[in-house]
Amino acid sequence: MKGKKKNTRLGLLTAVVIVVVAVTGSTPLAAQDGPTLYKTKCAMCHGADGKGETPMGKKLNIRDLGSPEVQKQTDAELTTIISKGKGKMPPFEGKLTAEQIGQVLAHIRELGKKK
Ligand code: HEC
Repeated sequence: MKGKKKNTRLGLLTAVVIVVVAVTGSTPLAAQDGPTLYKTKCAMCHGADGKGETPMGKKLNIRDLGSPEVQKQTDAELTTIISKGKGKMPPFEGKLTAEQIGQVLAHIRELGKKK
């Protein structure tokens, strides 16, 4: 009888641990970071779909990020543009980590695939 009660409590503890691990440990945050960063840092100029159809994008004559002209550039070239800026494009070095720049770049590649 006593043993059984202990087991139940242990089982409950295990369940709590599993829930905590599930909530904190395995959230796919990394997978969401690219689109989220893009939406908060880039979309006001480049548009949610990268086409640059925003008042700012039209004024600044931004090329469609998903277009072949932009997509044909290498990861290194695009990373440099994002980090150092280009023309009216503000530099994001210091505002985003290298890892985050990699994540938005991956998102730009996704925009290219959707064509
Ligand atoms: C203030 C508006 C603005 C914001 C915010 C902005 N950009 Fe830009 N971006 C521009 C402009 C303007 C250009 C075109 C620069 C040029 O060609 O002279 C550009 C160009 C680019 C290019 C090169 C496209 C090409 O024509 O080859 C990439 C890649 C890019 N931006 C990525 C990003 C990413 C990623 C972010 C967010 C981290 C971002 N931009 C945020 C304005 C912006």
